[in-house]
Amino acid sequence: MSVGRMRRRVNGGTHGADLIMNRNLKLEPWRTQHAQPILDLLMAEGDELVRREPWRPLDFLTLSGQQRRAAAIEALVADEKGAHFVILVDNDVVGTVGLDWAAADLTPGEAQIGYWIARCYRRQGFATVAVCLALDEAVQLGYGRVRANVASKNEASIALLQRLGFSREPETIQMENDTRAHLRFSRWLTLVELSRPHR
Ligand SMILES: CC(C)(COP(=O)(O)OP(=O)(O)OC[C@H]1O[C@@H](n2cnc3c(N)ncnc32)[C@H](O)[C@@H]1OP(=O)(O)O)[C@@H](O)C(=O)NCCC(=O)NCCS
Repeated sequence: MSVGRMRRRVNGGTHGADLIMNRNLKLEPWRTQHAQPILDLLMAEGDELVRREPWRPLDFLTLSGQQRRAAAIEALVADEKGAHFVILVDNDVVGTVGLDWAAADLTPGEAQIGYWIARCYRRQGFATVAVCLALDEAVQLGYGRVRANVASKNEASIALLQRLGFSREPETIQMENDTRAHLRFSRWLTLVELSRPHR
């Protein structure tokens, strides 16, 4: 399918916008006001969420738990330790994407990316566009390299990263509170625009 895409910078705290399949995708700073829509999406994930993230706090699937989570993210951003966004498609929250640069094992100029698209919104190219916007944001913030830790059986995320030009690093990562083996992928950011997939 041929899809028209357009990029524009907009004001008011929104970090980039893309048209994909004639739907407007943009990133907005993650705030407590997003707790309810994020909770609604998480509740719909059902078993998958529990299987994937067994270490979540007990109040994770409550409004107060999501408000606390958003407040912690706002504090982290205020401390300039990261940049975290909700992904909006036609003004509906469909997922999140974030950059962190405070981890002790990051090298100078390197940030770590994480992302999630709610199950009912997957396979529509939203993660592809949202991660590209976050990589643009990393460039704007002066970062030259981005890495991602991915569970070794997470085929969707691995395919997404490879599609966006990330390469697998040799080491296997053991995450805190997670028994699954993780792989690390990384990429330099200088060729982000050139490597954007065009549908
Ligand atoms: C990984 C994830 C973000 C992908 O989101 P998405 O919006 O569906 O991704 P896109 O539609 O942009 O897909 C981009 C490409 O990734 C690959 N991909 C996505 N889902 C896939 C799947 N289930 N199996 C295999 N490849 C997949 C495909 O190559 C796809 O391109 P295509 O649809 O043209 O074939 C989503 O599955 C998710 O949130 N998973 C749970 C959370 C997670 O794993 N986060 C990452 C932790 S590191």
